[in-house]
Amino acid sequence: MSSLGKAGLEDVVVSTSDICFIDGREGRLVYRGFDVDDLAAHSSFEEVVYLLWHGGLPNKKELAAHVKAMRSTANRKIPPKMIQMLRALPKKTTPMEVLRTGISALSAFDPDAADNSREASVRKALRLTTQMPTLVAAWERIRHGKAPVAPNPRLSHSANFLYMMFGKKPTPLAEKTFDVALILHADHEFNASTFAARVTAATLSDMHSAIVSGIGALKGPLHGGANEQVMLMVEKIKSPATAGAWIRKALADKARIMGFGHRVYRVEDPRAKHLRRLATELGEQAGNTDSVRILDTVAREVTADKKIYPNVDLFSGAAYKTMGIPTDQFTPIFAMSRVAGWAAHVLEQHGNNRLIRPRAEYTGATRATYVPVDQR
Ligand code: ACO
Repeated sequence: MSSLGKAGLEDVVVSTSDICFIDGREGRLVYRGFDVDDLAAHSSFEEVVYLLWHGGLPNKKELAAHVKAMRSTANRKIPPKMIQMLRALPKKTTPMEVLRTGISALSAFDPDAADNSREASVRKALRLTTQMPTLVAAWERIRHGKAPVAPNPRLSHSANFLYMMFGKKPTPLAEKTFDVALILHADHEFNASTFAARVTAATLSDMHSAIVSGIGALKGPLHGGANEQVMLMVEKIKSPATAGAWIRKALADKARIMGFGHRVYRVEDPRAKHLRRLATELGEQAGNTDSVRILDTVAREVTADKKIYPNVDLFSGAAYKTMGIPTDQFTPIFAMSRVAGWAAHVLEQHGNNRLIRPRAEYTGATRATYVPVDQR
């Protein structure tokens, strides 16, 4: 008798976990007991990283030490040889390819690379989380023939990234928006990239290898790559006036509309409303809310037609675009946040490990007769 469930492991529970809870019917997302709505309103990405890795909110002293470590140049910097490596890559290399390659290469320089103890893995997670923005920003500058900007230890994780991208400090609204976006993307239970990271970790492979697995899975357009695709759709639609006709035709053509639908949520993704609000505020400050207006029309039509709702990827790009971030950097930015969640899951997996090795229901031949090649 077949024991096969629905395709794509839908609704299959593969493990217990204390990190993240999703209520797909209520539209709630909770990290370590804390609703993301509260974290978005009151916390910082730096504090959320602590929460995910250590299981609870830090006290004042713990937070100060953690923030100091996250901002230290010793953790944020990438070796000069990495910069040489980036310069050797073809300029057309996409930022996601650079991130996947760069994180893999960084393990060659990491003093704890071969050590899988919890202490060493937390140190590696901290370096990976703080080096990732340096790597992403360095490639942005190198591919445009500019010199990378060194990290600034006086700036928060989010402000420092925008500073390294653009060579100047961000406005308070841009810093806040970016930080909330990072909080909202930091973890999401057993999504595809986190599961990939856990499968790798469960072979007792190391933190860098698990994070590279996560990056590879995040890249696809059905997962983190959707935020780039949403912005490409907005660019095709061009203006709020043409949005209704464009999306009705796409729906009639049975197109898959990026930024909608979810394996777990049956209502609107709780992250979408925050990103819509932030994209609107930034757009108003910049005097152009066209992207959000286009997406509002698209959302109205898609939800009315298909009963599917916006997910996290619908509005994030509109905010990043207003900050001047190029579209192909949206998914690397997702990874800059999700690395915190991936690392938390690797730590949890290593804390109570068993190899993840499911079975397939075989549907091929079982007793084929081998025929030598000259007789076929
Ligand atoms: N546009 C059009 N139709 C859709 C969409 C969409 N975005 N999403 C789901 N549907 C329809 C499917 O056509 C299907 O209809 P059918 O039953 O009539 O054939 C039904 O809804 C179920 O869709 P599945 O693809 O089977 O749902 P699944 O749970 O496998 O997929 C997924 C979830 C991949 C997120 C899907 O909704 C999708 O492709 N969305 C667009 C890509 C996207 O935005 N991805 C980001 C998700 S959030 C994240 O990963 C960070």
